[in-house]
Amino acid sequence: MSSATACAQPNIALVKYWGKRDEGLILPATGSLSMTLDAFTTTTTVRLGVEADSFTLNGSPAAEAAMSRTTSFLDLVRELAADDGPAAVTSVNEAPTGAGLASSASGFAALALAASKAYGLDLDQSELSRLARRGSGSACRSIVPGFAVWHAGRDDASSYAEPIPAPDLRLVIVTIDSHEKAVSSREAMRLTRDTSPFYNAWISSTEAVLDEMVSACRTGDIARIGELTELHALRMHAVIASCRPPVRYLAPASVSVFDAAAALRASGVQAWATADAGPNVCLLTTPGEAGEVASAVSGLGRVRVVSPGPGARLVSPGLGAR
Ligand code: PMV
Repeated sequence: MSSATACAQPNIALVKYWGKRDEGLILPATGSLSMTLDAFTTTTTVRLGVEADSFTLNGSPAAEAAMSRTTSFLDLVRELAADDGPAAVTSVNEAPTGAGLASSASGFAALALAASKAYGLDLDQSELSRLARRGSGSACRSIVPGFAVWHAGRDDASSYAEPIPAPDLRLVIVTIDSHEKAVSSREAMRLTRDTSPFYNAWISSTEAVLDEMVSACRTGDIARIGELTELHALRMHAVIASCRPPVRYLAPASVSVFDAAAALRASGVQAWATADAGPNVCLLTTPGEAGEVASAVSGLGRVRVVSPGPGARLVSPGLGAR
């Protein structure tokens, strides 16, 4: 029997991915850039030599939708490995699932590594990133440690994430609500493309923001990185709010965290807000200012300071004889 266990962490995008060019292959309409966190680990074990596919999430059998997403993903791995044996997948998430803290990113990054190893594949970083992308787009960035650029690419082979140099930064995560979101990012991305009159402008302006962000990271220009981070988050939420019917992920308390970031900046503290597809907000700041930023927002939600973290990694080789 063969098994492998892998860990991965979520990532928070500073330049967001919102829109697909190819839904089947999960090719994004634009590139994006993120920081992989050192917190909210997902640990996943894939065990072969079982009777049928199964997926246990946080100790209970997974819901139907999560099970079928996992089976489809395993099918991709089985095709690559030319092995059609079923697998038992067990996954534990430290972060609340589905609440905009990118548990799908850490989940599919850990699953890509554990499943590829269990089925005897030996993929390099960009191959693993491409595989994780097929589970959930943003998962391709959680394969990579620290800061990652996901190249939009032209096709499956050219759409993967790779590390880029960036200054040492912190994210102060303000968890406002850890319930599952009402509209999945997959569904809302489709709605944005199909109904927002601003979609094309969103796509073309994102390319420009990404270019500027990559050079700000390379030169270590923290003020520029922060300004672009907040600008791009607000643009994403604006294009999402312009759907028909509209989708709104930010709660009143989320907006208060954006206000707190502005107030901190007015008092000379470096802090910029961003939020993925959910109400929770992250404040980007420097290591030296993270403590002050965290106390400034402690009344607005549960607060945790996180640093750039490692990419997906194996916890135990677990490759016994089958
Ligand atoms: O990978 P998905 O389908 O969960 O989409 C992620 C979308 C955002 O988190 C909102 C933005 C991003 O780039 O991570």
